[in-house]
Amino acid sequence: MQIEGAIALVTGANRGIGLALVQALAEGGARHIYGTARNPESFPPGELPPPAQFSALRLDLSDGESIEDVAALANDVTLLINNAGSLSGGALLAAPPEAIRGEMATNCFGLIEVTRLFAPVIARNGGGVILNMLSVSSLASAPDLGIYATSKAAAWAATQAMRTSLAADNIRVLSAFPGPVDTDMSSELEVRKASPGSVAEALIAGIEREDPEIFPDDMARQAEAVWRSDPAMLIRQFSVL
Ligand SMILES: NC(=O)c1ccc[n+]([C@@H]2O[C@H](COP(=O)([O-])OP(=O)(O)OC[C@H]3O[C@@H](n4cnc5c(N)ncnc54)[C@H](OP(=O)(O)O)[C@@H]3O)[C@@H](O)[C@H]2O)c1
Repeated sequence: MQIEGAIALVTGANRGIGLALVQALAEGGARHIYGTARNPESFPPGELPPPAQFSALRLDLSDGESIEDVAALANDVTLLINNAGSLSGGALLAAPPEAIRGEMATNCFGLIEVTRLFAPVIARNGGGVILNMLSVSSLASAPDLGIYATSKAAAWAATQAMRTSLAADNIRVLSAFPGPVDTDMSSELEVRKASPGSVAEALIAGIEREDPEIFPDDMARQAEAVWRSDPAMLIRQFSVL
């Protein structure tokens, strides 16, 4: 898909990777970018594309009506980036059930609901691309990221189901598997992290090539090499992190 001239919507676009994606899409010549946030006033004013190229909209993944409103308003979209997500650190079985439900609601059910409402929009516009922001944790779980990894693995399974069912509407469903990226989400992780800007650039290049799986940073590409040759080895490697 060509970014130049595309009309894109990015969820969770007020900070982190989402904001970097908005900036990279603008630089790539997207005709218009809708950025969504739970609080549209939280967008940093000096870091956004000009108003003719960018609109801020309110979308909360836990509020179905807000998703319906955005799908009705942004009815010219051909590129949807399901970027919004949350990370509750912690081992799966030590977590209170509400923490697991909350993470599943944001990272999996919210992503499915946005896609359910936007797929007909993109189909009516002649087809396009949906990119789901997953994680290397979708492919293998580190013990202390059990809640997050469960939700992201479910989102990966959902991505595969969407891919099959939306192909007939000329919609390609891509998936991104970043390693650690330097944003608020990973602030407590003491590991080497990629910059949001470099990750956004790699994601845009992957969208243009329509790579079904995009590994946008060095750590992700190392994980990709293991996953492609021996997925069980990646699970063993992550289990001792
Ligand atoms: N950072 C990493 O190391 C890393 C690695 C792999 C994958 N990822 C994935 O990349 C995506 C972006 O992460 P990030 O690092 O940029 O995180 P971030 O800086 O924490 O930003 C998360 C974004 O998601 C939004 N969000 C969270 N819950 C939401 C909800 N219920 N409804 C609507 N929006 C919601 C946040 O909005 P508010 O400002 O309103 O909270 C914020 O805009 C996520 O899907 C994440 O899982 C990140």
